[in-house]
Amino acid sequence: MRSFATGVCVAATYADRADGRHHDAVTINSLSSVSLDPPLVSVCMRMESLFLADLLVTKKWAVSILPHGAREIARVMAKDRATRTGAIGALPASPGPRTGALVFRSASWMECELRAAFDLGDHTLVVGEVVAADPRRDGPPLLFVDGGYRVPADPGPSPATNDLPDSPWW
Ligand SMILES: Cc1cc2nc3c(=O)[nH]c(=O)nc-3n(C[C@H](O)[C@H](O)[C@H](O)COP(=O)(O)O)c2cc1C
Repeated sequence: MRSFATGVCVAATYADRADGRHHDAVTINSLSSVSLDPPLVSVCMRMESLFLADLLVTKKWAVSILPHGAREIARVMAKDRATRTGAIGALPASPGPRTGALVFRSASWMECELRAAFDLGDHTLVVGEVVAADPRRDGPPLLFVDGGYRVPADPGPSPATNDLPDSPWW
């Protein structure tokens, strides 16, 4: 799988506790498209993940597909929960309109509601229905291959903000 180039995403969810809403976000590269109609996507999370435990309770999550300039965000959001939650307040992110999970302003994003979860080996495959999305992002995407972050040599045209309908759309 080291040879399989992927994009890099930040998945976000939250937990509502007596003292308020606690957001969490983690770096993932297991995002997959599952179905077009209805629109379904999946992510695969380590079974003991604290983030996964919150997601399975709220049943709401968001995925932001990071642009090339966001590798520092990817690095920090792959750390332990205390580090992640300490950094979240300074992130260029805000609650998504449909789920309240954090979405990144510089990234393409989608908001999801939980459809199904399957325990497989040491991971849980989470399938979500996409309930809102915004395809714009700042420049070429960030890639992950051979254990490191890369930028495409030939990024092609980037979705220009002016060419897109008003955000958010679906
Ligand atoms: C590029 C990259 C991709 C990752 N992809 C995944 C993933 O798809 N699923 C996953 O469970 N963890 C993935 N991780 C690890 C998580 O970012 C994070 O370290 C871990 O899920 C945190 O677990 P916790 O919720 O128990 O703190 C990835 C890390 C990196 C650097």
